[in-house]
Amino acid sequence: MIVIVMGVSGCGKTTVARELSKRLKLPFFDADSYHPQENIDKMSGGKPLNDEDRASWLEILSSNLQQWEEDKGAVLACSALKEKYRKTLSTNLQQLHWVYLDGSYELIMNRINQRTGHYMSGQLLKSQFEALEIPQYGIHVDIDRSPKEIVDQIITNMESKKSEFGVFGLGVMGSSISLNIADKGYQLSVYNRADGGEEDVVDDFLSKHSGYQNIRGFTELKAFILSLSRPRKILIMIKAGPTVDLVLGQLFPLLEKGDIIIDGGNSHFKNTKKRYDLARQFGVEFIGAGISGGEEGARKGPSIMPGGTAESYNHVSDILESIAAKDDFGKTCCTYIGPEGSGHFIKMVHNGIEYVEMQLLAEIYTLLSKQMDYQEIASLFKSWNNGEAYSYLLDITIRILEKKEGDTYLLDVILDKAGNKGTGSWSSKAAFDLGIPNTMMSSAVFARYISSFKEARVKMAAKMEAKNDSLMDVDLKSLEKAYRFGRLINHQQGFMLMESASNSYGWNLNFSEIARIWSNGCIIKSHLMNELHEEFKTEQDLMQMNSVFNRLKEAEESVKEILSLALEKRVSMHCLTASYHYWIDMTSSRLSANLIQAQRDFFGAHTYQRTDAPESEYFHTNWL
Ligand code: 6PG
Repeated sequence: MIVIVMGVSGCGKTTVARELSKRLKLPFFDADSYHPQENIDKMSGGKPLNDEDRASWLEILSSNLQQWEEDKGAVLACSALKEKYRKTLSTNLQQLHWVYLDGSYELIMNRINQRTGHYMSGQLLKSQFEALEIPQYGIHVDIDRSPKEIVDQIITNMESKKSEFGVFGLGVMGSSISLNIADKGYQLSVYNRADGGEEDVVDDFLSKHSGYQNIRGFTELKAFILSLSRPRKILIMIKAGPTVDLVLGQLFPLLEKGDIIIDGGNSHFKNTKKRYDLARQFGVEFIGAGISGGEEGARKGPSIMPGGTAESYNHVSDILESIAAKDDFGKTCCTYIGPEGSGHFIKMVHNGIEYVEMQLLAEIYTLLSKQMDYQEIASLFKSWNNGEAYSYLLDITIRILEKKEGDTYLLDVILDKAGNKGTGSWSSKAAFDLGIPNTMMSSAVFARYISSFKEARVKMAAKMEAKNDSLMDVDLKSLEKAYRFGRLINHQQGFMLMESASNSYGWNLNFSEIARIWSNGCIIKSHLMNELHEEFKTEQDLMQMNSVFNRLKEAEESVKEILSLALEKRVSMHCLTASYHYWIDMTSSRLSANLIQAQRDFFGAHTYQRTDAPESEYFHTNWL
């Protein structure tokens, strides 16, 4: 940041600039020290400088100012009387504040006459006033007060001109969320690097959205930081992974105690915990915020899941809550989740649930396509979506089914190899670590992995007998029940995973609130979330809720029917099968694990517990 304190000679700009530099912790420079000798001689000889004399001096200053801005920033005392001088001085500066010290001829004349040892004589003041073109911008301060009061006023004024919020990264999500924030009337600074093919990102963004007077763009990190009011609040919207650490490494040293960084990417919750701890060493607050809803959500209202300290959240709650989607009752789909990595953990589980919801629909679509065309499937899905089973993912599936390129359904030409960015597998890994059976999420991840072995699949498929393609007769009511069954178990497993994490890490998660903020804005928004929001107010375990349990029980026959039909038609149903097996096991008082325990004890003397003895006792048998 550069501050130029300007005004005619004798207005006190050197004193004020010095004082201001101390308060802003920026180096002080006096423009007079940069005059070439011939200018000094001329002035000492009582001759006023002309524009030509000043041109070289202004060029020297301009190149110094650019260097100072790159270094630590600066406060410069400089007369800068004419607009064209100021234009030269402003060249290439990212963040420049002009301060004009305003005083009458009489007052300044009086001051100059009292000074000794200054090469500016009182007579030249008149020519200065003649040359002066008062700027129509910047901070104007009346000099008829003490330097301290003048500096106080400048600082207050500068603070009021600062942005309330910063967004780092103008990718698709960063740009969309920036516009969302600006729409809510906040003063916003946005930053994007200007190298590596991203030279024009900021300029393009600003020119595309030139109607927004409340957005300022930066490609210079220091200028971006200094443009923000304290405590600074910066949302980083960059690709999760090592880049986040690189960016934090640049940001932390430039920030001050109490500043707040929000990581809005899909970071792993354990990395968030590490970054949270590192931020604290710099006195910086770190919020790991899961943000869901894709590009459209970011622009119009996402679901936001922030984790960190409650105090730091309070500083950013206004802004995050104002940009988030609204639930059915008009409440914001953003709530404080809990400490350190909890927000990103929740987002990770959200994505795990998302994987399963998508896979269930893919399984059902594949089965249905054996007896219906896409238009018919879309119509069926529409009838489901109009009722209790509404979800965003079902909605987009309908649109996908209907999409054509000419006479061809687009779906038919999309390669059947599913990609992933890792969050689904992270959920499964977390479940393995916590000992939670999230069988559906892992099945959904594995289904994607299997799909990627396209070449091998094609080879082996060629060796299979031609399959029985006779039309089947799936009962659509049973299918709908099976779909709902699968979804309920999916949510059961997802919330169970969060409950386990909450207990293990001491996060004290509020599941009713989590379901509520997932009722809109996010990818897994659905009517079911509204129901869960109510149910979780009184019960922590979804399957223990009578309403849920009875529905699952009632759907059992339908699920069996659908699964056996799918097997007959060789349609794999990874997720629906996993949900059914989970249901069977969770509702069976005795499982096959007795044999597993016996085997473990047989080969490894791992011991076992007995049904006819207290669970605290362990036994070993000499099996041979
Ligand atoms: C969201 C999405 C979004 C994205 C995931 C999953 O909530 O907005 O979950 O975060 O879809 O990154 O992506 P993959 O399917 O590529 O793993």
